[in-house]
Amino acid sequence: MQRLLPDPGPTTVEEQLERYRPQEHARADRPFVAMNFAATVDGRATIGGVSGPIGSDTDTAMLVGLRTRFDAVMIGAGTKRAEGYNRVSNRLVVVKSGPEGRVDLPTLLHSLREEGVRALLCEGGPTLHGSLQAAGLVDDLFLTIAPKLAGGGAPPRILEGELDDVIPLQLAWLLEDDGELFARYSRH
Ligand SMILES: NC(=O)c1ccc[n+]([C@@H]2O[C@H](COP(=O)([O-])OP(=O)(O)OC[C@H]3O[C@@H](n4cnc5c(N)ncnc54)[C@H](OP(=O)(O)O)[C@@H]3O)[C@@H](O)[C@H]2O)c1
Repeated sequence: MQRLLPDPGPTTVEEQLERYRPQEHARADRPFVAMNFAATVDGRATIGGVSGPIGSDTDTAMLVGLRTRFDAVMIGAGTKRAEGYNRVSNRLVVVKSGPEGRVDLPTLLHSLREEGVRALLCEGGPTLHGSLQAAGLVDDLFLTIAPKLAGGGAPPRILEGELDDVIPLQLAWLLEDDGELFARYSRH
């Protein structure tokens, strides 16, 4: 694996994540929140309705490594339905609507922080991502860009839903392995 930005040179998933300490950046009212997604070059976030065929084994290693840096993993009900998520060793929070409709995300994140969650890795899906970004609740975005074109009708992109404004992002790092790109964007 090569680090293209910053400070170009050889690296590994382990080396890259060793210095990544999201727990140290928890806020008083919510955990530090990072999103993780994989997409194809044509912007598709699913192939055949799931995300598994998008990324390589290195992408899986990055995801498994990332989870070790976070206290809990969060997904939306749609991702739970599509992907199962039965073998995650982190605490798993599944966001699903209740009798009063959609979950109030600031309240949920505040409760998680009070329970001791300092860093939360949200692994999708696109609808939950849209809600979190619209509410200003995402700090980092990990995006794997697989060197593939998937085509198809209108499978989801990595973010679905309206945003009040365009959100500018900073590219915090960019890694490359066998043509696959691993970007980390920061919102602040
Ligand atoms: N490429 C990737 O990296 C990646 C990652 C994750 C998922 N995916 C794919 O994305 C697809 C699922 O996407 P999705 O957008 O339908 O699912 P999602 O974002 O995982 O779940 C959305 C659902 O969460 C529930 N929800 C409750 N409160 C919410 C709130 N405040 N904001 C948003 N959602 C809330 C709602 O379900 P209920 O009303 O049913 O409770 C809502 O329909 C799957 O095909 C999956 O494979 C891809």
